[in-house]
Amino acid sequence: MLLLYTLTTLIGLVSAATFSNPLKSRDGSDPHIVYAEGYYSLMTTTWNDLRFTRAKTLEGLKTGESRIVYTDTNPARCCNVWAPELHNVTNTWYMYYTAGTRTTLDNQRSHVVRGPYGTSPWPAPGTSYTYAAQLTKDWGIDGTLLRLNSLTYFIYSWGWKVLSEPTLPWERVRNPVNKGAAALSRGNRTWVAYSASDCWTDSYQLGLLTYKGGGADPMLAGSWVKSSPVFSSANGNWGTGHNAFFTSSDGTEIWNVYHATAVTTGNCDGNRYTAAKRVEWRADGTPDFGRADARGTVLVGPSGE
Ligand SMILES: *[C@@H]1O[C@H](CO)[C@@H](O)[C@H](O)[C@H]1NC(C)=O
Ligand SMILES: *[C@@H]1O[C@H](CO)[C@@H](O)[C@H](O)[C@H]1NC(C)=O
Repeated sequence: MLLLYTLTTLIGLVSAATFSNPLKSRDGSDPHIVYAEGYYSLMTTTWNDLRFTRAKTLEGLKTGESRIVYTDTNPARCCNVWAPELHNVTNTWYMYYTAGTRTTLDNQRSHVVRGPYGTSPWPAPGTSYTYAAQLTKDWGIDGTLLRLNSLTYFIYSWGWKVLSEPTLPWERVRNPVNKGAAALSRGNRTWVAYSASDCWTDSYQLGLLTYKGGGADPMLAGSWVKSSPVFSSANGNWGTGHNAFFTSSDGTEIWNVYHATAVTTGNCDGNRYTAAKRVEWRADGTPDFGRADARGTVLVGPSGE
């Protein structure tokens, strides 16, 4: 009996790595996490360059190894670097991001840089990512990929309606906004989470589009059904938004990484921090994002840590 108890305690200790939020307390905006080849890689908006931090556990990201992988002196895309996301496209790592000119946000465009071929997104010593392409001719921000029905789609936010537009009161607080899309798939079902309302308010929050299925064209707004807000200010975290999804190292869990601020009126700048929470699943197969945990709460880390 005693032996069994001791064993259980030991197993408990070794198998349940814990972490607490925030994972990054300054410049934690617009977070994106990818697990690959033994590491969680975290990137956020740092305004000037593309960089990521890697660690073997979520908690480790607080003190992980950091690398700037791309900087640009071209004045058309030098500055206001936002929302980098790392994606594996046919075995090559690409970082999608938004950038523009120094003195105005009117020139923000989506771009992509190319990284290493193969399993690890971490560039070999002495190498960096190289510029690949501008992806939007006009204003276009927060690019991300959606994989559906064997195709890869690029989703971004711009001034005109396409998949979704901010029509409901909870999407129009201070300014009508739909941005920061993040695709989520489980089994044969697909959703796109996005951020609604102005980030300078405590109503900046996540909405959710559900793909209707049945081969419907994902390029048509009518192929998606909009839910009520799914993740809003809670427990001292304000403006919970601009999220991304990542998979635990063993592939069994899906996690939500998002940013929030401790400022009750919301925040759009570097005062936002990065936090993560496991996505739960309801009996009907729909995702449950729960509520943001109070900062400092000790949480069980992703399965496989
Ligand atoms: C990258 O994607 C390819 C399919 O395009 C897949 O075969 C490979 O396992 C992926 N690599 C990693 C590290 O996830
Ligand atoms: C998923 O598969 C089930 C069973 O085959 C089917 O009934 C359902 O319509 C599918 N859902 C989507 C979104 O394609």
